[in-house]
Amino acid sequence: MNSRSRSFLSFCGLNISFRALWLAAFGLLCLISARLRIAEARQSVQSSQASQKPPDHYLNTQPGVEYLGDEACRKCHASIYLQFKRTGMGRSVSLPSAEDLSQLAKPVTLVAKAAHRTYSVYARDGKMIHEESESDAKGHLIFSQSYEVAYAVGAGDVGKSYLVAKGDSLFVSPISYYERIRGWDLSPGYDQGTFRGFTRRVVDLCVDCHTGMPQLVAGSHNRFQQPPFRFLTVGCERCHGPGATHVRQHTEEAATGVPADEGPLDVSIVNPRNLRNEIRDDVCAQCHLAGDARVLQPAKNYLDFRPGTPLGDVVAIFSVPQTIKGNHFVALDQFEQMKMSRCWAGSNGRLGCISCHDPHVQLHGDEAVDFFRGRCLTCHAASTCRAPQPQRQATSPPDNCISCHMPKQPTENIGHSSITDHRILRTQSETPAALQPGSSAAVLDLISDTKPSDSAATQTDLRNRALAYAQVAGHYPELGEKGLAALEQAAAALPNDAEVQAAYGLVLEFARPREAAHAAQFLQKAIDLGSQSVEVRTHLAALRMREGQVTAAMELYKQAIQIEPYYTPAYLDLAHIDLLLKDQKAALELLDQVLKMDPGNDAAREERLKVAAPGDRKKSP
Ligand code: HEC
Ligand code: HEC
Ligand code: HEC
Ligand code: HEC
Ligand code: HEC
Ligand code: HEC
Ligand code: HEC
Repeated sequence: MNSRSRSFLSFCGLNISFRALWLAAFGLLCLISARLRIAEARQSVQSSQASQKPPDHYLNTQPGVEYLGDEACRKCHASIYLQFKRTGMGRSVSLPSAEDLSQLAKPVTLVAKAAHRTYSVYARDGKMIHEESESDAKGHLIFSQSYEVAYAVGAGDVGKSYLVAKGDSLFVSPISYYERIRGWDLSPGYDQGTFRGFTRRVVDLCVDCHTGMPQLVAGSHNRFQQPPFRFLTVGCERCHGPGATHVRQHTEEAATGVPADEGPLDVSIVNPRNLRNEIRDDVCAQCHLAGDARVLQPAKNYLDFRPGTPLGDVVAIFSVPQTIKGNHFVALDQFEQMKMSRCWAGSNGRLGCISCHDPHVQLHGDEAVDFFRGRCLTCHAASTCRAPQPQRQATSPPDNCISCHMPKQPTENIGHSSITDHRILRTQSETPAALQPGSSAAVLDLISDTKPSDSAATQTDLRNRALAYAQVAGHYPELGEKGLAALEQAAAALPNDAEVQAAYGLVLEFARPREAAHAAQFLQKAIDLGSQSVEVRTHLAALRMREGQVTAAMELYKQAIQIEPYYTPAYLDLAHIDLLLKDQKAALELLDQVLKMDPGNDAAREERLKVAAPGDRKKSP
C-alpha cells in the first residue's frame, strides 16, 4: 500500500547492494556468535549507563513557540550559519540556479527505449524545463509535455531530483541528475515502471525530510499553500527546535547586559548534545530513519515533532525484522546499520549519529578522514586495532580507520551512487555483531523503532501497529495473516478511528476479495468518520458498482476528484461508468481532462481512440 517511504529511498537510502552484501554474509552460525559477543560487550560497558543524562525540560519544546528561520540565527552564530549552509543538509532543496542553467546551453536528451519515450532537459527564458514525449514507429509525435522545474531536491552530492507544480500540487519529475555519471538519467523507480511521467505525487513525507517547513493545505497530502515551503532547506530549528524564546532571551540579555537566570543549562533552546541517548538520536531519526512503515499518531503531523521530546509522540516507526527481509531485497538506513554495530551495542547506545557527525560541517577528503579518525579515538585507543601496522600505514592517509571499517559500497542498481557502511564491521566478510534489539530469529512481527512518552497506551499501540501492517502488507505476504488479525482487532476496538476503518477496509478487500460487502462497510464508515482519502473513495466506488449502485459510485469518484484534482484514476473510472450509461460525450470530456493533465496516460489515450467516432479521431490530442 504505502510504498512511498521505501520507494523514494531508492534515492535516499541508496543501499540495496549493500544489504545484499550483508545478506550474503549472513548465516545462522554467525548469528549465534554475534549474540554471544553482544552479551559480552554489554557487560563490559555497564559503566557508561551512569552517563545517561537527566530528562530535559526545554522551554522551546512547548507548543506555541515560534519558528524564526535560519536568518534569525545568523546575527549571533555567523560562523555556524555559514558552515552549515555549505553542508548537504543546508542545501537540501534549491531553486534551479544560473549555474545549472548555464550547463544546459545545449539541451540534454535521453531515450527510454522500453517505454518508447524521449526525455529532455533544457533552459528557456531563465527557467529549467523538463520534457517528455513519445512518437510512434513512423516518428509521428503521439504526445509531448513540458514543465518548468519549481524546485531541485537534494544538494547534489549523489544527485538531484526535481519537482514541478500543477496548480497547487507538486509532482516529481521523471528525470534526475546523477553526480557519479555527471549526467542525467531517469529518476529512481521510473525505469522499472513503478512511476510514470509527471504523475508521482510529492506526498507530505518527501518534503518533510528535505525542506525547512512545508506548508500543506490542511487535510491534504499534496496540495500546498503559497509559498509551498516557509523555509527552503533543512534548517537550524529542525534540530534545535523553534528559536523565538532563545532569541528573545539573548536579545534582551545583549541589550540589558543582565544574563538570563539559566542555571547550568541554557533551556531556551535544545542542544542535542545534552539530550538522553534515545531522544538525542530521535532528532536525526525524524529524517534519517525511514523505517518500513511510518504511522503518524492520531491528529499529528511531522512538524509537530519538537527536538528534545520523543519522536514516538508524533510518529510510530516500524521495521520489518531481518528474518523476513532476508527474502526480500530491501534497503537499510544508517540507523538500522548503526544499531547492528558492536560500537553501538557495546557502548549501550552511547554511540549516536553525533558521536561521529558534526551536522554543521560537511568535510571532504583527508580532512574528513582525520576528523572521523578523531571521533573513533574518543572511544578506542589506536592500539586496540588488531590489524598489522604495515597494513594500517598503507591506507591513504595512513591509518585511515574508516577506509577499512566504514568503507563506501557502490549501489550500482540504483541512483549511480555509493553509501558508507554504518555497520562498523571488523572486516567486510564479518557478520554484523548485532541484530536489532528485541528482534530474534524467531520473531515474525514488526519491530517498533520509536517509543512515545506514554508507552503504556495499549490502544494507540494496537492502532499504530495495525496501520503499519496495512502499509507493509503488500510487500511482505508473510506478515499478511498477522496484519489482518491486528487490523480486525483494531477496527473493532477503535470504531471511531477513520484511518483504522479505512485501512481495514482496504486490506480486507485486497486479502479477502470474496468478502467485498464486508470491506465496503468499513470503507463507508471511514468516509462517514471524515476520511479524506481518495483511495478509499475509488475503492468503495468500485465495490458499489459491483453492487449495481451506479449513482453512489459516481458520487464517490466525483468526491475524489474534488479532493485531489490531479487524481486521474477517478476520472478514468468515471469515464467507464459514463460509457456504460452510453454518455459518450461525458466520457470523452473526462478522458480529455485526463490527457490534458497527463498526456502520457496510455490507458486514457487508447480509451479515447476507441470511444471517439472515427471522424472525431483527428481532434484527439
Ligand atoms: C541575540 C543573539 C542570539 C541569537 C539571535 C541566537 N542565539 Fe543561540 N546563543 C546565543 C548565546 C549568547 C548563546 C550562549 C553562548 C554560546 O553558546 O555561544 C547561544 C547558544 C545557543 C545554543 C547552545 C545552547 C546550549 O545549551 O548549548 C544553540 C543550540 C543555539 N544558540 C541555537 C540558536 C539558533 C537555532 C538560533 C536561531 C533560531 C539562535 N541560536 C539565535 C545567542 C543568540
Ligand atoms: C529535517 C530532516 C533532517 C534532520 C532532522 C536531519 N537530517 Fe541529516 N540530512 C537530511 C537530508 C534531506 C540530507 C540529504 C541532504 C542532501 O544531500 O540533499 C541529510 C544529509 C545528512 C548527512 C550527509 C552530509 C550532508 O550534510 O549532506 C549527514 C552526515 C547527516 N545528514 C547527519 C544528520 C545528523 C547527525 C542529524 C541529527 C543531529 C541529522 N542529519 C538530522 C535531513 C535531515
Ligand atoms: C525519510 C526522510 C526522507 C524522505 C521521505 C525523502 N528523502 Fe531524500 N534523502 C533523505 C536523506 C536522509 C538523504 C541523504 C542520503 C542518505 O541518507 O544516504 C536523502 C538524499 C536524497 C537525494 C540525494 C541528495 C544528494 O545530495 O545527492 C535526493 C536527490 C533525494 N533524497 C530526493 C528525494 C525525493 C525526490 C524524495 C521524495 C520523492 C525524497 N528524497 C524523500 C531523506 C529523505
Ligand atoms: C542536523 C541537525 C542540526 C542542524 C540543522 C543545526 N544544528 Fe546546531 N547543533 C546540532 C548538534 C547535534 C549540536 C551539538 C554538537 C556537538 O556538541 O557535537 C549542535 C550545536 C549547536 C550550537 C552549540 C555550540 C556548538 O558549536 O556546538 C549552536 C550555537 C548551534 N548548534 C547553532 C546552530 C545554528 C545557528 C544552526 C543553523 C544555521 C544549526 N545549529 C543547525 C545539530 C544541528
Ligand atoms: C561511543 C564510543 C565509540 C565510538 C565513537 C566508536 N566506537 Fe567502535 N566500539 C565501541 C565499543 C564499546 C565497541 C565494543 C568493544 C567491546 O565490546 O570490547 C566497539 C567495537 C568496535 C569494533 C569491533 C567490531 C566487531 O564487530 O568486533 C570496531 C572494528 C570498531 N569499534 C571500530 C570503530 C571505528 C572505526 C570507529 C570510528 C569510525 C569507532 N569504532 C567509533 C565504541 C565506539
Ligand atoms: C562511527 C561513526 C559514525 C556514526 C556513529 C554515524 N556515522 Fe554517518 N558517516 C560516518 C562516516 C565515516 C561517513 C562517510 C563520510 C565521508 O566519506 O566523508 C558517514 C556518512 C554519512 C552520511 C552520508 C551518506 C553516506 O552514507 O555516505 C549520512 C547521511 C550519515 N552518515 C548519517 C548518519 C546518521 C543518521 C547516523 C546515526 C544513525 C550516523 N550517520 C552515524 C560515520 C558515522
Ligand atoms: C588497513 C585496514 C585497517 C585500518 C586502517 C584500521 N583497522 Fe581496525 N581492524 C582492521 C582489521 C582487519 C581488524 C580485525 C583484525 C583481526 O581480528 O584479526 C581490525 C580490528 C579493529 C578493532 C577490533 C579489535 C578487537 O578487539 O577485536 C577495533 C576496535 C579497530 N580495528 C579500530 C580501529 C581504529 C579506531 C582505527 C583507526 C585508528 C583502525 N581500526 C584502523 C583493519 C583496519
